[in-house]
Amino acid sequence: MLVGSLLLFPTVSMKAQDKSLDYCAAKLQSTLKEITRSDGAIDYTMAPFHILQGEQKWDLAKVSNNNWVCGFWPGLLWYDYMYTHDANIRQQAEKFTDAMESIADKPISNHDLGFIIFCSIGNAYKITQKEEYKQTVLRAADNLIKLYNPKVGTILSWPAMRHYKNWPHNTIIDNMMNLEMLFWASKNGGGKNLYDIAVNHALTTMKYHFRKDYSCYHVAVYDTIDGHFIKGVTQQGYSDQSMWARGQSWAIYGFTMAYRETHDTRFLDFVQHVADVYLKRLPKDHVPYWDFDVPVTAETPRDVSSACIAASALLELSTYVSHDKAKYYRSSAEKILSNVSKNYQSKEKNSAMLLHSVGNFPGHGEVDASLIYADYYYMEALLRLKALRHHQPLMLQ
Ligand code: GLY
Repeated sequence: MLVGSLLLFPTVSMKAQDKSLDYCAAKLQSTLKEITRSDGAIDYTMAPFHILQGEQKWDLAKVSNNNWVCGFWPGLLWYDYMYTHDANIRQQAEKFTDAMESIADKPISNHDLGFIIFCSIGNAYKITQKEEYKQTVLRAADNLIKLYNPKVGTILSWPAMRHYKNWPHNTIIDNMMNLEMLFWASKNGGGKNLYDIAVNHALTTMKYHFRKDYSCYHVAVYDTIDGHFIKGVTQQGYSDQSMWARGQSWAIYGFTMAYRETHDTRFLDFVQHVADVYLKRLPKDHVPYWDFDVPVTAETPRDVSSACIAASALLELSTYVSHDKAKYYRSSAEKILSNVSKNYQSKEKNSAMLLHSVGNFPGHGEVDASLIYADYYYMEALLRLKALRHHQPLMLQ
């Protein structure tokens, strides 16, 4: 459902939206230039993933190392191809995507396979319809569910933390994002069990992973044997009881997607509360600090990645809700995008699209950095906005 009046007074004008998309395309070209070696070759096994504060160049991760972010770069190239239809971008997207195939079959070591495979090879299949890509996603989905514990009703996120932190069965809120691959696989030749597992995971997460005010824990810890919820804690947030900014964005995105895939109105009712607490607590410029409960000083970093994930999710959510709520979510998403475009673009500072995200503040990792997934969800949100303007379905769904 589209809200006519919103089109008359958009926060992001069509011109501004196209300018930002052109900016994203230009930034991808500079990144490609940056990672091209002096002999003119590109190492397709290495994906750009962050530019740390004070540095000018991307650090590259070996894709075979299973870094959770390694699918975003190929995924971003596919988004860019959708926008530009540039044959060279498509060729680059294919080469980076092909370098990732083997990850789907590695022994599963954590829940990140959904992020890794679905943003890269999933996008690739939806655009190219190449059978090998589809088969890889189906194998990855079957691999991911090896971490499912039916007693708990969720997928285990971090096997290593069972012993390291004494978190027997742990599920992080980010894991909601991996369900999209299971839903998709189930509709595209995979088993019905993939759908059932995704639904159970979302229902269990809805029941235990949130506080009364609909803010979420980063990590929910469950008993492995009888499945009971033990406690909610944090790994990347300010405290166990705080609202970690990116976690809340994953929740908005994840439950909106769960509603899209199931039409279960419990998810739709719930996600509106989850979105509302996020929006209500945003600072004036609509870009959150890295945690909503951290004492704010002049030095407190923002997390632009959280803002971009939320903007993309809110645009989708605006298509499922009542007129007034649609207007609220659409204009909130546009405010976020407008402020991110005006104040957080990297411009000439580096080849990333955006500055000022936080990966893991307590772990002193990627504080106030450019992050590949901030760029990915920024471009996704801009493309979603464009699709909504043209009354088209949101891309790649
Ligand atoms: N999934 C990891 C993060 O959001 O940092």
